[in-house]
Amino acid sequence: MPRKIFVTTALPYANGSFHIGHIMEYIQADIWVRFQRMQGNEVHFVGADDAHGAPIMLKAEAEGITPEQLVARIAAERQKYLDGFHIEFDNWHSTHSPENTDLSQDIYRKLKTANLIYTKSIEQFYDPVKGMFLADRYIKGVCPKCGAKDQYGDACEACSSVYAPTDLKDPYSTLSGAQPVMKSSEHYFFKLSDAKCKEFIKNWLGTPGRLQPQVANKAREWLDGTGDKALGDWDISRDAPYFGIPIPDAPGKYFYVWLDAPIGYLASFKNYCQKKGMDFEKFLADPDTEQLHFIGKDIIYFHTLFWPAMLKFSGYKVPDNVFVHGFINTASGEKMSKSRGTGLSPLRYLDVGMNPEWLRYYIAAKLNASVEDIDFNPDDFMARVNSDLIGKYVNIASRCANLLKKTFGGVTSNLYRDSTLLHQFQAANVDIALQYDSRDFGKALREIMRLADIANQYIDEKKPWILAKDATKAVELQEVCSVGINLFRLLTLYLKPVLPSLATNAEKFLGIHPLEWKDASELLPAGHVTQPYRHLMTRVENEQLDALFEIDKEPAKVTTSTPHPAAPVKSDVTLPPPQPSPAGAREGESSGAGAPIIKIDDFAKIDLRIARIANAEHVEGADKLLKLTLDVGDLGTRQVFAGIKSAYDPATLVGKLTVVVANLAPRKMKFGLSEGMVLAASGDAPGLFLLSPDAGAQPGMKVK
Ligand code: MSP
Ligand code: ZN
Repeated sequence: MPRKIFVTTALPYANGSFHIGHIMEYIQADIWVRFQRMQGNEVHFVGADDAHGAPIMLKAEAEGITPEQLVARIAAERQKYLDGFHIEFDNWHSTHSPENTDLSQDIYRKLKTANLIYTKSIEQFYDPVKGMFLADRYIKGVCPKCGAKDQYGDACEACSSVYAPTDLKDPYSTLSGAQPVMKSSEHYFFKLSDAKCKEFIKNWLGTPGRLQPQVANKAREWLDGTGDKALGDWDISRDAPYFGIPIPDAPGKYFYVWLDAPIGYLASFKNYCQKKGMDFEKFLADPDTEQLHFIGKDIIYFHTLFWPAMLKFSGYKVPDNVFVHGFINTASGEKMSKSRGTGLSPLRYLDVGMNPEWLRYYIAAKLNASVEDIDFNPDDFMARVNSDLIGKYVNIASRCANLLKKTFGGVTSNLYRDSTLLHQFQAANVDIALQYDSRDFGKALREIMRLADIANQYIDEKKPWILAKDATKAVELQEVCSVGINLFRLLTLYLKPVLPSLATNAEKFLGIHPLEWKDASELLPAGHVTQPYRHLMTRVENEQLDALFEIDKEPAKVTTSTPHPAAPVKSDVTLPPPQPSPAGAREGESSGAGAPIIKIDDFAKIDLRIARIANAEHVEGADKLLKLTLDVGDLGTRQVFAGIKSAYDPATLVGKLTVVVANLAPRKMKFGLSEGMVLAASGDAPGLFLLSPDAGAQPGMKVK
């Protein structure tokens, strides 16, 4: 029986653009949702803007616009980010909507009928100039303990003591500067302390499998608090002026934003049901329906105490799960704050042209089912994406596809003598599915990359590029390539929740229908025709990370030792600057005698290969460059623009062997794409000397 699931992410405040924390949460939920859909489950995934509350009202006022205008402006940019990161909500709505007004008022009325609402007069600071009651964050004054000035209403930043805003000396309103006065007003309360509420929440929290253990424990602490920490009733009203939903039969009173915000989940779903012709009430009333919320650790309180109780006592379905994640930190890493700025802007990420699936992969690789925080570390990001996705996964396809195409027109073998490997890959689907389902994405991806390693080992052992040279080995060659392509297909299936767009391109190349989870039980049929292979993903480049974090244009003093053309490329030469090391140390790094010392690991990052110059020609309009076509053995052919025109006549180069840096990020030049760099020596005197190996070296051989 397919599951029927209603999924949400927390509703972001509508007073600002998405930040990386939001995007991380959506990526987590989106991967989970895509996985469930691949399993054949019915999933409805909705989000919305959390539009209400004082901060939004005040921000709009400061900009001289209405809150509605502010919210509309923010709403207008949401889709760009969501599309950009391949986050596929079925619906995006707003808490400032007719559906939410109806639902909030309905839930309130039902809670009132259940005797869970009462009113009480409370005294609070009031800004007489602004004409509004002041939340603690809008009051400052002198700390009653240490006398520090300009401290907030709830705690002192100087001495860390905690107090009530009424304890502040010389309090003032941060909104008008006026001295606040105490004023009383009638507030509406939700009676969370009621025995039936506490009993229900206790059971709800204790239901096995509902919450992560840390989350349930935290919630129980609040629920069972005594004395000072006893769980009080919940103040759900705010006085006008307030941007919110009016409380029925209570003029001038509005629901506190946290009351109507989670109801926004239902409002968005209802709005979606109306568009889809689905029966909202019936879907939620169905006992088989699951309702789940993905949220961050800072809002556990609202989602595990008030929200389930509100739903329960108004007769709505209660959430089946609340899945809590930690925070993504982009500034905590030493390196990050020092050399790469402090924040990671998701929009900038897209603007500098970085592949959204790199970020999806990186975040997924770091995520598990716990509430731990994760760090975004740029160097780790680059290393992991390049090594896992390009070096392992994509590599399998590129190693097999061209040989299969060239030799057999892309047709797969009808012979799989090596079926153990294929079966091993197929059987892995069970564990990987469990890991996705339990949000242990990091573990799923580690397993997938372990399989990718096995696939690459298989190809290394079988050496299809050698088989290709011997016509009598054609059957074996076709089999090896076909096994490789099948392994690649299974890995694509397993990666698809994380890399939906890459998977779609891989499906095109494989010539297959969109992969579903059950397809793991099958292989490509014998004689299946694959389509021409086009490179599926490019590598992350250092320059992109620099651009992402707005590194100064000036050459950095301490950067990475990864080989790269120095950042602002002035000439159209792909040769390294004349220096003793092929790593091409940048200006300012050199310590007199030569480039700085590097470790063997640094050197090992450079993939140096023997290349045969298959062709060399002049480039029209270029006075320094020759265009070389290199045969790099199993890496295929590469086009490289080399600044060696002054020293070589192209005709004399054809057939020669030389050394190429094979893992240099391709660079777009005026004349075309340069996919590597050939090595040449030069000194102070004119002259350029291309490196060439001793006799016997073959194209594709590693230089180490
Ligand atoms: N509007 C409320 C939620 C109402 S839900 C009915 C809110 N909005 S928020 O914009 O501040 O946060 C939205 C979500 O983003 C929350 O789940 C929050 O935990 C998450 N994150 C905010 N910053 C984050 C990180 N740095 N890292 C990961 N997630 C974080 O709270
Ligand atoms: Zn103090």
